[in-house]
Amino acid sequence: MSENKNSNGLLGWIDARFPLTKMFEEHLSKYYAPKNFNFWYFFGSLALLVLVMQIVTGIFLTMHYKPDGELAFSSVEYIMRDVDWGWLIRYLHSTGSSAFFIVVYLHMFRALIYGSYHKPRELIWLFGMFIFLALMAEAFMGYLLPWGQMSYWGAQVIISLFGAIPWVGDELTLWIRGDFVVSDATLNRFFALHVVAVPIVLLMLVVMHILALHEVGSNNPDGVEIKKNKDENGIPLDGIPFHPYYSVKDLVGVVVFLILFSVVVFFMPEMGGYFLEHANFVPANQFKTPEHIAPVWYFTPFYAILRAIPDKLLGVIAMFGSIVLLFLLPWIDRGKVKSVRYRSTTFKWLLVMLVVSFLGLGYLGALPVTETRTLFAQIFSVGYFGFFVILWMISKNETTKPVPERVR
Ligand code: HEM
Repeated sequence: MSENKNSNGLLGWIDARFPLTKMFEEHLSKYYAPKNFNFWYFFGSLALLVLVMQIVTGIFLTMHYKPDGELAFSSVEYIMRDVDWGWLIRYLHSTGSSAFFIVVYLHMFRALIYGSYHKPRELIWLFGMFIFLALMAEAFMGYLLPWGQMSYWGAQVIISLFGAIPWVGDELTLWIRGDFVVSDATLNRFFALHVVAVPIVLLMLVVMHILALHEVGSNNPDGVEIKKNKDENGIPLDGIPFHPYYSVKDLVGVVVFLILFSVVVFFMPEMGGYFLEHANFVPANQFKTPEHIAPVWYFTPFYAILRAIPDKLLGVIAMFGSIVLLFLLPWIDRGKVKSVRYRSTTFKWLLVMLVVSFLGLGYLGALPVTETRTLFAQIFSVGYFGFFVILWMISKNETTKPVPERVR
């Protein structure tokens, strides 16, 4: 039985049978978070919000969508025109997927600038990276479902990449598609994976991500371990209870986010073809390749790396390598100081190089190839990979500023 003082009433009855108050205290009202969180710390709770929104809108879309090569495209049109509020549910879901990546990229960048992947938070980062992989798989498979030209040909191009793998490539692509081309069989399995399998994996990973975080405690913009300075009751001197302080503060982030999100949903749901590509308003046609095939914006940095390398196999290796390096970040960065505030100027320039390269690659990956663009994509790819190589080299003996004992 929990030690809860409130042993009367419904709550007392529940607490004697289920650790409700205990869990609430452990993860909210007695979880001590550093008192110096800034706006960068909004993105974790925002990612949770978007996750819930995607699941709820996804459930309603599933009620009207038909995972069938003959019916899929028109069932989406039916949702847009005939289902009550169907247009809103669909735009919330399609805009939600782009919002998810914006929020998650900013959340990852926060971890990068404040060194939140350093010891003892390596597992939080690794769970985060697995979430990122699952999210990419989820978005990729979801994009096939409207069964438009870009859904179809995007899937065709990306699945065929596996064909570059020596010996097993052809068998593997056949196995993924369930047919010799992207077809009804592919649509059916992608539907099952998109609505059931991957969301379950995502939810489990998010729970593990937060459990790992609460085990070691949050990092903060100063990169100071607040657990090192505790009062006589064992409470961190620089900590404040997550609830009510951050549950309320996070609402500010939620409101700002919802305003921006609504502007997109109601006034520019296609976002000029970046969130919903123009070619996807044409039904899938396996006999007609669109002039220009490009993935949705959140994949374009990695797609640009793939295209920057002339050899297909090497391109695929570089593309996967660019993600593997992110997994290895806690071991590539051998620095002792976490926060960018106390790190060297070289580190700051490296961050600039990474951001410029990543955005540059993202921009180029959405455009048709030309010689000049390929040259720039190659330069930005060197910038992206250079970040990890140079970080590994300089971080061990980096000249850093003294880190304060307490948070500022
Ligand atoms: C569905 C996606 C995700 C959700 C719902 C999520 C949720 C959260 C939440 C609620 C927190 C605590 C609040 C905060 O620090 O902002 C957090 C912290 C963290 N997350 Fe995520 N996260 C997601 C994806 C990721 C990804 C993709 C990465 C990186 C690969 C990542 C890395 C981290 C790290 C390192 C922390 C600790 C930050 C610190 O203490 O400074 N997360 N996450």
